[in-house]
Amino acid sequence: MKFPSYITTAVRDRLIARVNRLHLKLRLDIEAEGEQPVFGHGRNLFHIENWLSLHSIIKVVLRLTQLHKRGQNNCHNLRVTHNEVRSEHLPAAFDGYRVLHLSDLHIDLDSNFGETLSQTVSELDYDVCVLTGDYRFLTSGSTDASMAGMKQLRQSLRGDVYAILGNHDSICTVPLLEDMNYQLLLNESVQLRRGSDTIALIGVDDPHFFRCDNLEKACDDVAIDAYSILLVHSPELYKQAASADLDLLLCGHTHGGQFCLPGGVPMMVNAECPRALCRGSWQYDKLQGYTSVGCGASIVPARFNCAPEVTIHTLHKL
Ligand SMILES: [Fe+2]
Repeated sequence: MKFPSYITTAVRDRLIARVNRLHLKLRLDIEAEGEQPVFGHGRNLFHIENWLSLHSIIKVVLRLTQLHKRGQNNCHNLRVTHNEVRSEHLPAAFDGYRVLHLSDLHIDLDSNFGETLSQTVSELDYDVCVLTGDYRFLTSGSTDASMAGMKQLRQSLRGDVYAILGNHDSICTVPLLEDMNYQLLLNESVQLRRGSDTIALIGVDDPHFFRCDNLEKACDDVAIDAYSILLVHSPELYKQAASADLDLLLCGHTHGGQFCLPGGVPMMVNAECPRALCRGSWQYDKLQGYTSVGCGASIVPARFNCAPEVTIHTLHKL
């Protein structure tokens, strides 16, 4: 099996120890194509996030209409949102457990955004932190600025931080993030313990563009009766998660539209799933879910009628 020449032996061996060899090869082959294709690959045909010339046109339009500054300022207007999750299945010891959820950080969207995000989370109280992908602004190219931002952010996060990869993330950043003390879940699970009880935290690789998610493998070590939280970049895995009898799905990817009409109505959401699942809390069959509108922004560093968020989910025993 021939791996791309840009990946060092040390990184390759470290990743092979974490993921199936073929998983690594398939993901690296897509990443090695460089600038990601606008059409093809992934769950939907069209990928606006990869259309760099369109991004330039949008930037020019925003400058001509004098909206770029307002849109960029909106990116720094981070809200702390709260979501209450109630379940009979939750173990008693986890009643009141708080999960800080950050998604779509795109932390290098401008040179000050890492500081804005770090300052926001440093003031929060929570029991565990989870990140649901998209650390880089672009979908290809250097990861240096995003990794510098993630290093700064980690100093403002307390305790264990679990993370998954999104469609903007290279699998080659996994060793870098893990050296910063983020624990990546690459089709893997861990147990969270509180008192004498445990719940399962499951994380899968990106299902939207790379399609390297493997829920079956990720659930291998999960007890059949465990309360389970799935971290996945996009809500597009909702049917599989419900079918697997998982309890809670946390995701992002849609940015809630990012550019919305007044009233927060998204012009597009870039996900193959019902619009009701593309923002905030939702339920599908017995599965409860929450789709974060994200902390950052992609395509252009601007948001309209869709303020960015960091979310605290509080679990309640019914
Ligand atoms: Fe994103």
